[in-house]
Parts: sequence; structure tokens; C-alpha cells
Amino acid sequence: MEQGQAGRRVRSERPSSRVGVPWWRDAVIYQVYIRSFADGNGDGVGDIAGIRSRLPYLAGLPVDAIWINPWYPSPMCDAGYDVSDFRAIDPVFGTLAEAERLIDEAHGHGLRVLLDIVPNHVSDRHAWFQAALAAGPGSAERARFHFRPGRGPDGGEPPNDWLSRFGGPAWTRVCESDGRAGEWYLHLFTPQQPDLNWDNPEVAQEFEDIMRFWFDRGVDGFRIDVAHGLAKAPGLPDAPGAPWPPDGPGNPPHPAWDQDGVHAIYQAWRRVADAYDPPRVFTAEAWVDGYERLTRYIRPDELNTAFNFDFLLAPWTAEALRRSITDGVAAHASVGAPPTWVLSNHDVAREVSRYARPQGTRELRHLDDLGGLPTDFALGLRRARAAALLLLALPGNAYIYQGEELGLPEVEDLPDEVIQDPVWEQSGHRERGRDGCRVPLPWSGGAPPFGFSPDGASAAPWLPQPAHWAGLSVAAQEGDPGSMLGLYRDALRLRREHPALGDGAIAWVSAAEGVLAFRREPGFACVVNLSEEAQDLPLSGEVLMSSAPLEGERIASDSAVWLAV
Ligand code: NOJ
Repeated sequence: MEQGQAGRRVRSERPSSRVGVPWWRDAVIYQVYIRSFADGNGDGVGDIAGIRSRLPYLAGLPVDAIWINPWYPSPMCDAGYDVSDFRAIDPVFGTLAEAERLIDEAHGHGLRVLLDIVPNHVSDRHAWFQAALAAGPGSAERARFHFRPGRGPDGGEPPNDWLSRFGGPAWTRVCESDGRAGEWYLHLFTPQQPDLNWDNPEVAQEFEDIMRFWFDRGVDGFRIDVAHGLAKAPGLPDAPGAPWPPDGPGNPPHPAWDQDGVHAIYQAWRRVADAYDPPRVFTAEAWVDGYERLTRYIRPDELNTAFNFDFLLAPWTAEALRRSITDGVAAHASVGAPPTWVLSNHDVAREVSRYARPQGTRELRHLDDLGGLPTDFALGLRRARAAALLLLALPGNAYIYQGEELGLPEVEDLPDEVIQDPVWEQSGHRERGRDGCRVPLPWSGGAPPFGFSPDGASAAPWLPQPAHWAGLSVAAQEGDPGSMLGLYRDALRLRREHPALGDGAIAWVSAAEGVLAFRREPGFACVVNLSEEAQDLPLSGEVLMSSAPLEGERIASDSAVWLAV
């Protein structure tokens, strides 16, 4: 047992070699996309009651913590990332009292709880933005946001040339109280998500209070939404010729993204989190250009961890993955932070479907990137199994997005009329967006809602589940050692018990072309064959587990093996 929040204890079954290592350095964290995880009240939308009922499942996988996507009151223009009140729960998900019970019960199961904090923007229904609209130009209320007069003779042009991350201009003009078109406000996402002005000390104060509100309720930390967006370059200058999306990896610097001013914000946040016992923690969602920029966010006095999206986006080739891992491990070591490995989340196409396509010819991030390419789902699943063993053998912490443990593919054929992602409208129906990775989980049964909602539910799941998901449900995979769920369970259990896994170092072992092999001490090795042929294992040892049967003594193509060496 380890000490959790005062009065609560969080169970830990870590090997003795890892006792004393802060939990977040080697944790496996399960992302609960709340609206699609489990529906307790039968309205077709996942909720807190659903999560509470599935805590034994999560604890039994086993994982160490859960990250819950935004559950705050919201008009849901961007699936809850348009928050209208950070200190309450949207009625579609439950109540604050239920949230408090969930936090306690999760701790009782040995699970830490991370929430999602959305500091770059609020909903346009948030009291602050409503007050800003009412108060008018030059007011203290508008100074919490980025309001500016327009350009051009009648102020009819946006104040600068920035584009929204979802397409279209990043500015919307408001109608003032006299009925005339007036100032413009900045929104890096939808017009319903006005950006906050982090140069205003009131904004910083408010978020510190919000964090304390949840930390005082036992929350163990936050995933920070758009962590690289809060600080804007002084004067909000134009960014002529900037590619779209402006925060893509490899893109030139942009005055809206990854500004150095952001780091003072996180130094202050770290002081808030460190004042708790045990200290609370942060994970940054920061789509920045390369590891040097990324690891600035996790210097010793800033955030604890940051998602490694370079690894997520790397194609399934030995060369790309070796480079991503080597550079990532070195960069993280230089700031003393553990790497945070992730293969997918609620914003990217599921890896079974990404890996089902030819690799390395173009970036495969969203559903829209997958179209028109030859597809082999059996191969995608086989690679995703191998990727799971790679992910869980790497040093540091790892995130699993709900449904990865079931091998769910992207749902690529959602009918137009059910699409809810604002990207669909904002791109003028050119991009279908992210709903394909957000389809509600199949738990059991032969037909939708596959146990996602209780029997007799009043509404169908908020996105339709494919009929063929019957075979992918938790119940269908349970007890089948050859299933994806069986693979994840075995790997997670082994990872928890094995003293070499989690935080630490890796040493590459030389291997045939197309094969990745590394050792972790004491006595562990992971070998991944990304070539098209079976290969000799580059080191001998007892096979602990493998993602596909060995071919005699050889590791099969597109598979991974864990060895005791
Ligand atoms: C990143 C979130 O993960 C995504 O779902 C959301 O649309 C944007 N940030 C805006 O908050």
C-alpha cells in the first residue's frame, strides 16, 4: 500500500525494485473517453455511473490510473472541450457527488484518477464570455479573452491571418449591444471556443483555483488540453505562409503555438501540484516540433510528463520506430523525465486501421488520411498486437486508449447524418473528423448496444456500433488467450510484476534489418520483427510471451516477443 490523498490509500503491487519510484514515472494509464465508455442510465451516452460499474474491469486489466476526458457542463460543440463551468459535472454524465464517489471508489481499486483540464479556451456559454460580450470593447471582462478591432476600412477583416485548427479563420466578429458589427475574438478551435488571454493574471488565478477544487477532491492530476497553445506571441502578429494545420510536427514556428511564454504558466502550476501530499501530476498534450521543443514542457520545475506523439505518428517500420525511440529516450533523459508512450487517443484514427495501410508513404493520423490506400485489417491487427508489446516494454509510462485492448478498428463508414465532430462542419464537409475512433465500446451480447447501455435503454448509442463488433466485445474475448484482450491482460500483468519494466534504461541489441531488439535490466528483452519474413531471434532466452506464435525458433513477421534473458 502507498499513501494516497490524506485518509485514502491507493493499493500498489509493484515489485520491490520499483517501490519509491513516483507512481507516474512507470504507470499504465487508461484513457476513459467518458461518452463512449459505458452508459449507466440508458440514454445512449456514457457516464459516471457507467465508469463506476466498470472499475473492477479496469483494475483487473490491470492498469494503474485512468484519465477521464472532460465531464464538465458543456454545450458539447466539441464533445465537452467547450467547457462552461469547470467546477461541476454535465448532467449527461452525472453529478458532482457521483464524481466524488467515483474518485473514492477508483482509489479503493488502486486506480489513480486524472482529469482533463482545458485552459486554452472556454465555451462561448461560459459566464466569463457572456460577460465579455455584454460589457463591450475596452472592458475588464473582454481583457480575459483576445478581443481586437478588425482590419480594413470598416473593420470587416479579421485582426490577423491565423487559421483555426479545425479549418477556417481563427476569428469571429461579434455583434455589439448597439446592434452593429463590432470587435473580433480569437478562437484557435471552433467559434464556440473563445481563447483565454493568459497574459491576464485573473485567468491564471482562476485556473489555479480550479485545479485546487479537484485536487481537494482527491484527483491525482490533469491531462492538459492544448498545452502548447496558451501563450500567444505579443501583438498577435500575422503568420504569412504558415502551413495548415499550424501546429503539425515539422512545421515552422507559429505565433499562436508553442511560445516560450507558456513555460512560466506550468512552473506556477507545478508549485500548486507540489504543495499537495502526495504531489499531484500533469501530462501535457503538446503537438510541437520535435523532442527538443517537447521536453521543454517537462523540465524538472514544469510538468511531469508529455505525450510522445512522435511515436504515435511513426510509421510501422523498424527505422522510423528505432529513431523515434532512441531520440525520445535521449531527449527525456536530458531533462530527467520519463517518456510517455501512446499509440492512439480520441483525436487520431485507431492504430489497427492505420497499420492496415502501407506504411511510410504519407502521414496517417486521421480517418481522412486513410482513404484510397490498399487495406489489410488482419495485418493491421497483427501489427497492433506487436505494437502493444513494444509500447509496454519501453521505459517510462504508457497510455492505452479505451478499445485498444479489444483491437477495435476505426469505424470508417459512419453515415454523414450521425457525424458530430465539429471538424466535419468547419471543414465544409471535406474532413469527416474523429468520430470513427469514438464509437461506444462493445462489452457483451450479439447486437448493438453490445452492453454499452443497460437492457431496455431508452436511446441507442450516440454513435452507431458496427454489427461485426459482436466478436470484439469484452465478453467475446474474455477467456480466449489468443484474443487482443488476452494479450493486453498478460502483458499488463507481466509488466507490473517484472522488475525490468517501467521506468529505466534500454540498450539496443544488434539485429537483422527490419528487427528491433532491446534489453531492459534485469534480464528482459523485447524483439519486434517489422520485416516481411520470419527472422532469427538476435538473443536467446525463455519466451515470456509473444504477439504471434513463433515459427520454430524464429520470430514471425509483424510480431513481437518478450524474453527472459
Ligand atoms: C485537443 C482535444 O484532445 C481535442 O479533442 C479537442 O478538440 C481540442 N484539443 C480542442 O480542445
